[in-house]
Amino acid sequence: MFYETEKNDHGLPYNPYKSIVVPRPIGWVSSIDRAGSVNLAPYSQFNNLGYDPPYVMFSASHKTHAGELKDSVANIVATGEFVCNMATHDLRDAVARSSEIVDPEVDEMAAVGLTPEASRMVAPPRVAESPIHLECKFYTSLILPGYDPLNTTHVVVGQVVGVHIHDDAFTEDGKIDTARLRPLARMGYQDYTSVDTVFEITPQGPMAEAMIAGMGGEAKGRP
Ligand SMILES: Cc1cc2nc3c(=O)[nH]c(=O)nc-3n(C[C@H](O)[C@H](O)[C@H](O)COP(=O)(O)O)c2cc1C
Repeated sequence: MFYETEKNDHGLPYNPYKSIVVPRPIGWVSSIDRAGSVNLAPYSQFNNLGYDPPYVMFSASHKTHAGELKDSVANIVATGEFVCNMATHDLRDAVARSSEIVDPEVDEMAAVGLTPEASRMVAPPRVAESPIHLECKFYTSLILPGYDPLNTTHVVVGQVVGVHIHDDAFTEDGKIDTARLRPLARMGYQDYTSVDTVFEITPQGPMAEAMIAGMGGEAKGRP
């Protein structure tokens, strides 16, 4: 089959698009407004960009009305800081509940029964129950036009300045134990998945050593 995204002429009972770029990791974004009110929301249009330094991005549609910024975007643009907490299978219900549309002054972290933990380099708190937190400084945002001119998408990019990893999140050989943490990821419809199997593919050939170092994330010339 083929369909054009502007026409959405796929003839299916549900739009298939959100089930195509999958699985999407979930950035569980904590931020604060200028008055210090805490906000927490999941964003599955989320990913990492680069490593030295690392950046992360997430993208947001509008809030209730076209043109109205979601609270996370408004907070981050206003205060310049946020935290991306790892969403895990254990925390899936809290992740879903923190997506409810509420007034900006409602503290979703408290509302869904999570514990705020102070960050080191940014003001928004981290979710203590989450095993990994990325402290981020707002770098830039961009607006992607919609087919409907008011239906814009806001992309927020932050530089990761600090990383917290729970001490018990590692394997005995010092790697993050991803299969045990079970990071949560979004697919289309009401479907989610989580990482519970991990396998290795070791690079081969003359450049194998350099590729192994690069894929491990080591920046050249940096410790
Ligand atoms: C797992 C999950 C992933 C989501 N991903 C996105 C996303 O990528 N972009 C978006 O605009 N909304 C996304 N949402 C909806 C937002 O979380 C929701 O609109 C929330 O109320 C935004 O909160 P805020 O206004 O406090 O930022 C997602 C919801 C869930 C449950």
